[in-house]
Amino acid sequence: MKPGCNGTTMHPAILVTGGAGYVGSHTVISLLENQSEADPFDIVVVDNLSNAYRAEGQKKPEALVRIEELTGKTIYFYHADIRDAKALSNIFENHKIDSVIHFAALKAVGESVQKPLEYYQANITGTCTLFETMRKYGVYKLVYSSSCTVYGEPQSLPMNEAHPTGDLTSPYGKSKYFCEEIMKDLCLSDQSWAIISLRYFNPVGAHHSGRIGEDPMGIPNNLMPYISQVAVGRLPELQVFGNDYKTVDGTGVRDYVHVADLADGHARALKLFRQPGFNGFHAINLGTGTGYSVLQMVKAFEEASGRSVPYRVVGRRAGDVAANYADVALAARLLAWRATRDLPDMCRDTWRWQRDNPKGYQA
Ligand code: UD1
Repeated sequence: MKPGCNGTTMHPAILVTGGAGYVGSHTVISLLENQSEADPFDIVVVDNLSNAYRAEGQKKPEALVRIEELTGKTIYFYHADIRDAKALSNIFENHKIDSVIHFAALKAVGESVQKPLEYYQANITGTCTLFETMRKYGVYKLVYSSSCTVYGEPQSLPMNEAHPTGDLTSPYGKSKYFCEEIMKDLCLSDQSWAIISLRYFNPVGAHHSGRIGEDPMGIPNNLMPYISQVAVGRLPELQVFGNDYKTVDGTGVRDYVHVADLADGHARALKLFRQPGFNGFHAINLGTGTGYSVLQMVKAFEEASGRSVPYRVVGRRAGDVAANYADVALAARLLAWRATRDLPDMCRDTWRWQRDNPKGYQA
């Protein structure tokens, strides 16, 4: 074990890139909550704070400050960009990194169409720099934050991992797809690599404490944070993007999955690395397998919150598909994972977070 900076012994560490963001912060708290004394590890977060709030005078982003409060544990935090090879090397020098969970990326689909270079820089150059650094320090275990977006237009439903990938329109989606291709090539080039790419469907919900949640900067792009900001009175009404799809009520259908379930999926992926001989590239869907329409989401949220969510139907949003939901058999088989939280849980937890933090972390 390397000696810690305060003289204590340092445990093997999990490096979490983008750990101050939405799925990252929920994964960090879940790992810490489930940590056993028999199996200690450190959590090291690197984040450039491009989409995470840090209060003035604080060293750590607010999400991590609150996680430390809730768990009573310390998180090692580095304010750095993953494209900064020197900063990354410094982290690997300071800690005994055993595995990496890689969330750090830009993720707004519409913005990516306007700013392709920024997206490819952040998502692909950043990922390559991280891999180079991992290789330099002999760290080969990686969990990657991917998305069902890599499948593009569904050719069949539910979508399993054998569904073709890559026929995509947005630079964001392409960047996730390209990174998966890079990871496949890495695994072919060197059998040391063990990479699990978790393809999330639609992450929603918040930590049950109501202290950690999704805090989009500006007006939300995604449905659930939009609905919750309407319910709390921050936005006047929801715009429903089209009601002429061939779905249960004409509105878009998606597979919403609780972020705490996603977090648990990452913990299980890390456990898989312990299986002797486990290596190579593995893409795994994380979803519930059930789709809900926009209007079903509105109704469920109204029931959970006791607030009304006024809406107006407008035209379809470019790039949207009618319906999308996961085949989750592989996650069950490989990770022994399945989503345990249902739609009322997702709405209740989102609402608790939104009600208690109407302005997000900045309150
Ligand atoms: C989007 C991204 C996807 C990303 C995911 C999670 C696209 C095409 N895909 O998925 O790559 O991984 O977010 O960040 O953007 N809706 C409304 N009104 C709104 C917002 C959404 O009606 O104000 C509808 C949409 O038309 C869709 C559903 O709600 O039918 C879900 O939308 P959203 O939450 O943005 O997720 P996706 O588009 O599925």
